[in-house]
Amino acid sequence: MTSEAAIVVAGGDILDLDAVMRVMDDSFDPAYGEAWTASQCAGLLPMPGVWLTLARNGEAVAGFALGRIVVKEAELLLLAVKKEEWGKGIGKLLLRTFAEDAQSKGATKLFLEVRDGNPAIDLYKSFGFHEIGRRPKYYTGRDGQLYDALTLSKLAGA
Ligand SMILES: CC(C)(COP(=O)(O)OP(=O)(O)OC[C@H]1O[C@@H](n2cnc3c(N)ncnc32)[C@H](O)[C@@H]1OP(=O)(O)O)[C@@H](O)C(=O)NCCC(=O)NCCS
Repeated sequence: MTSEAAIVVAGGDILDLDAVMRVMDDSFDPAYGEAWTASQCAGLLPMPGVWLTLARNGEAVAGFALGRIVVKEAELLLLAVKKEEWGKGIGKLLLRTFAEDAQSKGATKLFLEVRDGNPAIDLYKSFGFHEIGRRPKYYTGRDGQLYDALTLSKLAGA
């Protein structure tokens, strides 16, 4: 368990799905088609190698990170913080926790996919991630517009 100011970071599970979806619906702009549905999350959470980290502000879930490890490669599948909590370092704390957890699970490399143009790219790059690929037209936005995904990577522990 890690804490920073009033924020406490700890593992979560399928029982936290409603709280996760409240953060998901609040944080992702529906214009870009990046958010997952509850059934997508519910399907993934029980799978081997998948882990959920929650950032709590008191009883309320302020943010979460969803990770998956396959052999020595860990992927950050989702990172989100409630809008009213943006800019307080919670995203950075969740990212750091994801990286530490991934390393302790045996990962040597970290990956993530992010929409080209998402301001979170600054956060990832400042944490040491760099671009290794692009998936054209990966996200379908609300109005049918397509957006590329960037694949970012970094060595675990670097
Ligand atoms: C990305 C996100 C998780 C960041 O959460 P946060 O708690 O606000 O992040 P932090 O306060 O730790 O900010 C860390 C850094 O990220 C950058 N950053 C994060 N979000 C930003 C935004 N919306 N606009 C500009 N910069 C942003 C800042 O440079 C900040 O650096 P600083 O501390 O030096 O100012 C949050 O904005 C969010 O939930 N966004 C919607 C979901 C999303 O797009 N997730 C990423 C793709 S899965």
